[in-house]
Amino acid sequence: MKPRRRRSYRLLITAGPTREPIDPVRFISNYSTGTLGYALARMARARGHQVTLISGPTELVAPRGVRKIDVETAGEMEQAVVKTFPKADGLIMGAAVADFRPIRVATQKIKRSGVAGSLRLWQLELVENPDIVARVARQRRGSQAIIGFALETESLLANARRKLKSKDLDAIVATQLSPRGKGRGPFGTDPVDGAILDREGRTKSFRSLAKSRLAARILDTVEETLASRAKE
Ligand code: CTP
Repeated sequence: MKPRRRRSYRLLITAGPTREPIDPVRFISNYSTGTLGYALARMARARGHQVTLISGPTELVAPRGVRKIDVETAGEMEQAVVKTFPKADGLIMGAAVADFRPIRVATQKIKRSGVAGSLRLWQLELVENPDIVARVARQRRGSQAIIGFALETESLLANARRKLKSKDLDAIVATQLSPRGKGRGPFGTDPVDGAILDREGRTKSFRSLAKSRLAARILDTVEETLASRAKE
């Protein structure tokens, strides 16, 4: 049997954490390492897709043949996604966007009180960052596919299904956070447990799945969604 020729799509993939500055030497961020997003970019390229990777700060090297846009904050990631999404067939929103940022960024390093033995109470005022994937989902063309992620510490499937609907996604990859150093991640750990839920109400669970194999399943989901759109 002749192997099926894959169609080539323009895929936009986001990966890694964002950093929200407090002052010139400090920031708020999260434990994301970007491993899955980079694995997705590498595999998508190997499958013949045209890939743009928008990445927050990570230790990882961009896969060959992938156009990479580096960003630092959620605001920068939002700008980059909004600008590049109209030319993409599909978006895989793998980045762990920081949900809050400091209201003000100090221009000079914030100093400690300097009084020996004093325990000064410190407060940081935060404001919510825009929901990037929900914003582009509202502006999308009907033919574009959007896959999001849900990271949960409780009620994995219920929370993921709620996010799938409220953000108007085609599918969502849900992973449960296990305590650091124990269990299956997802931050910096491999393999992972979780499920892929889609718009049609299907839930495909996975256990102890290597991130490279999860990347393949996510790409299958994107390709199937785009192929079915083309038939409509
Ligand atoms: N996301 C986004 N913009 C944000 C926050 C999240 O685009 N400001 C995207 C993530 O990239 C992911 C999906 O939304 O694909 C879900 O992210 P998650 O952190 O699980 O959920 P939140 O929407 O942030 O909700 P909560 O923090 O209340 O769980």
